Amino acid sequence: MEKQQNLLEIKHLTIQYVTEGEVVHAVNDISLTIPKGKTLGLVGETGAGKTTTALSILQLLPKFTARIPTGEIWFDGENLLEKNEARMRKIRGGRISMIFQDPMTSLNPVLTVRDQIAEVLKLHRHDLKGEALDQEIGRLLEMVGIPAFRMSDYPHQFSGGMKQRVVIAIAIACSPELLIADEPTTALDVTIQAQVLNMMRRLRRELGSSMLMITHDLGVVANICDYVAIMYAGEIVEYGTVEDIFDPERKHHPYTEGLFRSIPNIYVESHRLQPIDGLMPEPTNLPQGCMFHPRCPHCMERCTVPCKTAATDGDGKAQIVEASAPTVVEGTHSIKCHLFAKEGEPA
Ligand SMILES: Nc1ncnc2c1ncn2[C@@H]1O[C@H](COP(=O)(O)OP(=O)(O)OP(=O)(O)O)[C@@H](O)[C@H]1O
Ligand code: SF4
Ligand SMILES: [Mg+2]
Repeated sequence: MEKQQNLLEIKHLTIQYVTEGEVVHAVNDISLTIPKGKTLGLVGETGAGKTTTALSILQLLPKFTARIPTGEIWFDGENLLEKNEARMRKIRGGRISMIFQDPMTSLNPVLTVRDQIAEVLKLHRHDLKGEALDQEIGRLLEMVGIPAFRMSDYPHQFSGGMKQRVVIAIAIACSPELLIADEPTTALDVTIQAQVLNMMRRLRRELGSSMLMITHDLGVVANICDYVAIMYAGEIVEYGTVEDIFDPERKHHPYTEGLFRSIPNIYVESHRLQPIDGLMPEPTNLPQGCMFHPRCPHCMERCTVPCKTAATDGDGKAQIVEASAPTVVEGTHSIKCHLFAKEGEPA
């Protein structure tokens, strides 16, 4: 098998929000990779830490409340967490761009669509001026299915679905190597959702970009993603190719099983996540041991305490560290759960 080159590698990332003396443990020691040209779906119920993870990649977390005690975010060989604001400004909207969770508010109501796309292009593509700039704006709009002549319209002259296409046109204006899409279709009705997703899939093919697709919707994941990470209480509890995650013959994390059980037929239409019985723990007061143990039908005594597990450090050396539960890796598929830990291994 050919070794894939990773465009993004998140290593042991932990993010906390500190407010009024309370610590919100939003992201807890996650590691993720996105190979070049591939799409990773980040799935999890509300409050799991998906948006926090995405914002950290672009250094867009709130300056005074968010802190990152550990972790590295490698993008094309550089650790983004070590970049200063001036360097990040060059990357944002250029090499990495993001479609935010509430896209309707990311358009400026007093600027024409042309001027909003021009703003991004001028920042990152200084060569484009005059006629060539307008031609490029027209080309981008047509890529997302909007006729070029509508560039002089204002956002309120477009429907919800078209506004979302404009947001996507802005996000792809500089042919980003990585496109982060935070619930890009949640605010749209179902038929428009399908159109926007088809368009994103086509764009990815045409631009060859990698994508981080954040969603509640397993239908979206099945349709558009190559890899899937299931996030729960700030942790990645299961990770694999879309085939690994959707294979009913394979073993899965009890949380993933719950998600799938709540959906009759994933391939038929788009469904939102139905929460499993019980609630996700408060991120200010996480349980000891496996984060899922208060809700897990298979909970054992060892699940309720931290465990010792083997991990590799930055230099690739194996060491024994404390974790909420052991991570078991089988090829492209990994599961963080005691049920799959082999006998005789530290757990
Ligand atoms: N600025 C902030 N200050 C304090 N806590 C925050 C802040 N932003 C997010 N949180 C908390 O961090 C946790 C993770 O939030 P995040 O927005 O990353 O979740 P999410 O998975 O994107 O959820 P959703 O599906 O609802 O968008 C939540 O408990 C949330 O309340
Ligand atoms: S580690 Fe234990 S409690 Fe956690 S998901 Fe696995 S079986 Fe359930
Ligand atoms: Mg979110």
